[in-house]
This record gives sequence, C-alpha cells and structure tokens, in this order.
Amino acid sequence: MRILVTGGAGYIGSHTVLLLLEEGHEVHVFDNLSNSSPEALNRVAEITGREARLHVGDLLDQRQLDDVFAELKPDAVIHFAGLKAVGESVDFPLRYYRNNVTGTLNLLEAMDSHDVHTLVFSSSATVYGDAGVVKYREDLKLDAVNPYGRTKMHVEQMLEDVAGSSDKWHIARLRYFNPVGAHESGRIGEDPTGIPNNLMPFISQVAVGRRPVLRIFGNDYATPDGTGVRDYIHVVDLAAAHLAALEYCIDHSGAHAWNIGTGHGSSVMEVLHAFERASGRDIPFELVDRRPGDLAEYYADPTLAREEIGWKAERGLEEMVADNWRWQSTNPDGYPDADPADLPDTDPSEEDGVKGSKPKRATGPNETTKL
Ligand code: NAD
Ligand code: UFG
Repeated sequence: MRILVTGGAGYIGSHTVLLLLEEGHEVHVFDNLSNSSPEALNRVAEITGREARLHVGDLLDQRQLDDVFAELKPDAVIHFAGLKAVGESVDFPLRYYRNNVTGTLNLLEAMDSHDVHTLVFSSSATVYGDAGVVKYREDLKLDAVNPYGRTKMHVEQMLEDVAGSSDKWHIARLRYFNPVGAHESGRIGEDPTGIPNNLMPFISQVAVGRRPVLRIFGNDYATPDGTGVRDYIHVVDLAAAHLAALEYCIDHSGAHAWNIGTGHGSSVMEVLHAFERASGRDIPFELVDRRPGDLAEYYADPTLAREEIGWKAERGLEEMVADNWRWQSTNPDGYPDADPADLPDTDPSEEDGVKGSKPKRATGPNETTKL
C-alpha cells in the first residue's frame, strides 16, 4: 500500500514508519518538524534499507495537504501529527484545539476530496478521564479532563460522525496507554524537547546524568507501594498495532476504537527499579507531592484489540527499559543538532502563527519535499 503518515518523523510515527517499510509498504511522511528531527527518518532508512519520503508541511495549511494528496493519492493515512503535552494544553488551549482539531479537520477534508477514506488515528487513554474504575474498556464514557484530552475526544467524536455519514469511511481510533521504549537497535527513540513531562524519558535522563534526580509525584496513593500505576506499552508493540488496525480497516467500514496497552499496570517504583537493573546505575530520587490531575492507577483492558484485530503486546517492562536505556545511553543528547544551513527553508507554520513550530533540528533526510 501507499501510506501517508502524518507526524511520521516523531517518536511513535518513526517506529511505525519503520515497521511499514519492513512490511514492504510505500511510505510518505507529512510533518512540520515542530517536535521532531528528520534524522529519525535517516536512521529508519539505515535500519530497514528502505526510505520513506519526507514532505515538510503543516496540517494547518490546506493547500499543502491538497498538494500532497493530489500528487500521491495514498491508499490510507496514519495520523500521528499533533501536540501532546497536557500541561502546555492547559496554558495554551487554543493552540491545542487549532493544531489537533482543526489540523485533523483539514486532513479529513483533503482525504475526502481526493477520495481517500482509510484512516488510523492516534488517540489516547486520556479520553476516558477519571473513569472511576482502574481497568479501562472501550465502552466507558469518554470524559477527558484537560484540553489536550478534549482535543482527542472531540476528534474521536468527529470521526464517529464522519463514519456515520457514509460507509466509505474506514477508521481506526487507537487509544494508547503509556508508550515507552525504543527500537531494539538503539538508533531511534524518544527525544523530548526541554524538561521531559513523562516518567520514562525523565528517568533515562537522570540515569545518563543529564538531570540530577527523579522527583516521584506522590507515594500515598492507594496502590501497592503508594506510587502511581500505569500501563506502559513498548513503542514497537504500539507501532505493530497500527499495522493490525490498518489491515482490519481495509475490509471494515465505520469508526472503530481499541485500547492499546498490555493490560498490566506498573508503579513508578517498579519502573525505577527495572531501569536501575537495566542500566546498572543507581537512580537518585526524591518523594514530592502528588502532581495535580494525576490518577492513582489505571490500565487497559486490551481484550477487544486481541479479538478484533489480532493484536497483543509482546514485550514486558524489562524489555521496555532495556531498549530505552540502549537508545538513551548511545544517544545521550537525542538526535544531533543540525547545521542551521541544513534547515528546511519552508516553515509554513510561522504563517499560521503556531508557536513552537519552527523546525527543531534538521540533518537533511535522504529525500525531502519542501511544500
Ligand atoms: P511526537 O511529538 O514525537 O510526534 C508528533 C509529530 O507530529 C512530530 O513529528 C511533529 O513535528 C508533528 N506535528 C505536530 N503538529 C503538526 C502539524 N500541525 N503539521 C504537521 N506535523 C505536525 O509525539 P508522539 O509521542 O510520537 O505522539 C504521536 C501521537 O500520539 C500524537 O497525536 C499524540 O497525541 C498521540 N499520543 C501520544 C502519547 C505519548 O505518550 N507519546 C500517548 C497517547 C497518544
Ligand atoms: N511521574 C513521576 N515523576 C515524573 C513524571 C511522572 O513520579 O517526573 C509519575 C506520574 O505521577 C504518574 C506516572 O509517573 O504516576 C506516569 O506519568 P507520565 O507523565 O509518564 O504519564 P501519564 O500517565 O501522566 O500521562 C501519559 C501522557 C498523556 C497521555 C496518558 C495516556 O503524558 O499525554 O499517558 O494514558 F494522555
């Protein structure tokens, strides 16, 4: 298949592009590089021996989307592009609604007008909000509690409406739990800008000496060791879920939703100790107050994904932390910074006024189209 992957230079996108190339698909990435480096795609090419073509463009620019669809006529779209920091979404909700909701609306319009109706969308367990239970099933009411989560919820509802309007739409909504880890090669991984918000990248940066200490947000939750419990999912298992969902979508119309998690929760302390074993280093930590908005414990019921798309997670916590450590220890500063002369000279997002959308770094992908 010819597949267009929005946000394909990012963390989860690059791992999915890798699997798509390994499966023999023709892959095109549409990304504004606001939170990613084209070096990730260079490395994917180095691992797979095949290349994805990068189209530097912004979802907020309808013309750029139309150009790409007119040129490529893809068979399907996997849609990762979006902003994802919960705290930032509280401070800048309009930026989040614009990028995530308007961006997706633009994408759907471009798809429809070019007769492309198969889509896999990156949703999140955050759409459930505080569900009042710890094991989340897909039939729980969606009730996101922060602007980021609400953008995902609104997009999910938009996708349901679109699929309800005509059988031509074949849509998968994947509700990710907590993606962590890296490709086993250690060549690609998560490379957050600034201070990491999430546990695993924070622990990795402490282990590698970039940060002095991990702050554990609360040890008085009603969990076995008092620290927060989450369902961590290896990013390569998560990437594989996209291929399974895509295959299902080929023969099934509608807007389907699946939880993508292991079905097993791990506490902050368990993750910390697993990371210490994998890295052979002590990870200094301090106990601090709870982080506002955090829940004590939740994890996926992944039964539906296993039954309907034949997907289940294969990798456990030890593999997640070992792969994370391989990536972080061999790339302590993430992807290398670019020579400014190599930066793509198109920055469409500037016209759109999306802050933080300047290309983060660029090292010149093998084949790039500037829109
Ligand atoms: P990421 O930031 O690494 O990747 C997102 C990519 O989208 C980046 O390459 C960025 O440059 C691009 N992008 C953003 N806005 C764009 C726009 N307007 N036009 C074109 N490109 C744009 O994030 P990720 O962790 O790989 O997440 C991918 C998706 O999965 C996101 O939609 C995110 O909300 C969702 N998700 C992530 C997590 C997580 O913990 N990582 C959890 C649940 C859901
Ligand atoms: N934690 C710490 N210290 C840190 C970071 C996190 O103790 O420095 C704790 C949190 O309190 C929580 C656990 O580690 O108990 C996991 O926190 P993360 O920030 O890694 O992940 P969250 O579960 O809070 O949220 C993540 C994404 C959201 C997404 C959600 C989906 O950040 O975008 O998973 O389940 F919506």
